[in-house]
Amino acid sequence: VKIFVPRDSAALAVGADEVAAALQAEAGRRGLAIELVRNGSRGLFWLETLVEVETAQGRIAYGPVEAADVPGLLDAGLLQGGEHPLRQGVTEQIPFLALQERLTFRRVGVIDPLSLADYEAHEGWTGLRRALGLDGAAIIQEVLHSGLRGRGGAAFPAGIKWKTVREAQALQKYIVCNADEGDSGTYSDRMTMEGDPFMLIEGMTIAALAVGATRGYIYIRSEYPHAIATMTEAIARASAAGFLGDSVCGSGHAFQLEVRKAAGSYVCGEETAMLESIEGKRGVVRAKPPLPALAGLFGQPTVINNVITFASAPIILARGGAFYRDFGVGRSQVGAGPSQAGLTPSGGRAGASRPGGFASGTLPFQLAGNIKQGGLVEKAFGLTLRELLYGFGGGTASGRPIKAVQVGGPLGAYIPESQWDVPLDYEAYAAMGAVVGHGGIVVHDDTADLSQLARYAMEFCAIESCGKCTPCRIGSTRGVEVIDRIRSNQNRAEQVILLRDLCDTMTHGSLCAMGGMTPFPVLSALNHYPQDFGLAEPDQA
Ligand code: NAI
Ligand code: SF4
Repeated sequence: VKIFVPRDSAALAVGADEVAAALQAEAGRRGLAIELVRNGSRGLFWLETLVEVETAQGRIAYGPVEAADVPGLLDAGLLQGGEHPLRQGVTEQIPFLALQERLTFRRVGVIDPLSLADYEAHEGWTGLRRALGLDGAAIIQEVLHSGLRGRGGAAFPAGIKWKTVREAQALQKYIVCNADEGDSGTYSDRMTMEGDPFMLIEGMTIAALAVGATRGYIYIRSEYPHAIATMTEAIARASAAGFLGDSVCGSGHAFQLEVRKAAGSYVCGEETAMLESIEGKRGVVRAKPPLPALAGLFGQPTVINNVITFASAPIILARGGAFYRDFGVGRSQVGAGPSQAGLTPSGGRAGASRPGGFASGTLPFQLAGNIKQGGLVEKAFGLTLRELLYGFGGGTASGRPIKAVQVGGPLGAYIPESQWDVPLDYEAYAAMGAVVGHGGIVVHDDTADLSQLARYAMEFCAIESCGKCTPCRIGSTRGVEVIDRIRSNQNRAEQVILLRDLCDTMTHGSLCAMGGMTPFPVLSALNHYPQDFGLAEPDQA
């Protein structure tokens, strides 16, 4: 009998290794034959450790399982999917999962991440094999057609970036994956690398073929030791099987890939600071232009994308750009919902007509903070925060009302309830002075003090600033002081004007998003929660 126990960091943190060991030991003692598979996480974190058993009805889930539960589970007939208080039913039918539109994450939690055979059996390498039969321009045309935009946060069209690198003249080009996932409450890159590493390798190899690059680097957050280990092992296995190396799949195209452990600084996730770091230097931001697409790693044309962006390439090549574009509600296809059999579970909003023209494909949202059901929710663009917070998240973990939600990482805005029905889409969020970013969602209940969170945003910027430009280096420290004065009511009205002025300078004068976006959390807190700053009326000046 096949039993699945995740090897994802989130599961390991709550004792998955102990559960796996207890299952082996207890099954051995009872003379039961089990095949233990260490899969990725399904992303239902409140149920970790989520143990699944393969039965004739499909995979049956049990969770949250602790090592001490194992004997009782076996007594209850775990291997046959027997009844037990921790039994959650057929995994795919758990509403949190059934209501999703999993595309990039369709294999995560399903397969053994390091099994080449499992990957192959689940559509693995199909995109790469097709790409090998196309020339670079045709691959890029497919990506352009898909409408894929960068999933790191800035949402720049991936095909245009690849085209820029392809058309640049140079003897050496590089592919760099930005896996320095530093946003608060985010983990979709980590889950991908730990749960389906060959998908990232395949996506980066497709990019390499498209632009003519022969070397690639995956810059992984130093706080992600399991992702680093899994990716390193996956690269070794893919190389041994001929998917990487001097001649990718015998095609004559060379592509060598290696992992670089990041330097442990938030700003090293800024693409040019990351390049400095890979080159062995201190992670200081470079001025742009030149764009990395023209002069990137070691001064050569470089494709830099986020994990999820590269991971989207295999399915785009395998099923075609149109499939990916229409999976969300394509910009030019308003109202035409996704209907691909086998990928859109019944009960979801598949096929439903959605208002507006949203970005193509899906975004893996990451629910975190004070939330009852935290985890990964992959959906087409256009669902609302309210659906995520209550439909998926089930409200706060504390049981208190939700007060504020920070969307898009530490540089994202705090979203008040009045905006929870705005569709989660790049343009719709930009229009209200917010960002969707990398899809991180951090929930706060009514005990949160937004002036304290605004102060924290400035403090975070002061700590993480690379120091290259004045608005960020000095402005962030002055920002902390000004907010302290507002909080302690020293010339409050005057200080609020000063804070707005400072935010204006940081927004328009900073060299990168670190200083440039810190005003998002600060001003959204001030505008939507003036009472927390001791201001009676909403201050929209
Ligand atoms: P950006 O808008 O300056 O650039 C986006 C990307 O497009 C870059 O790779 C840039 O080189 C490229 N690009 C721009 N114009 C181009 C052209 N004409 N041809 C080819 N390539 C071109 O944004 P930036 O500063 O790279 O990223 C800021 C974003 O990063 C924020 O929106 C934030 O959400 C996100 N972020 C994400 C984090 C994470 O953990 N994922 C952490 C911190 C910030
Ligand atoms: Fe460095 Fe901050 Fe300026 Fe970015 S905004 S270049 S992090 S000092």
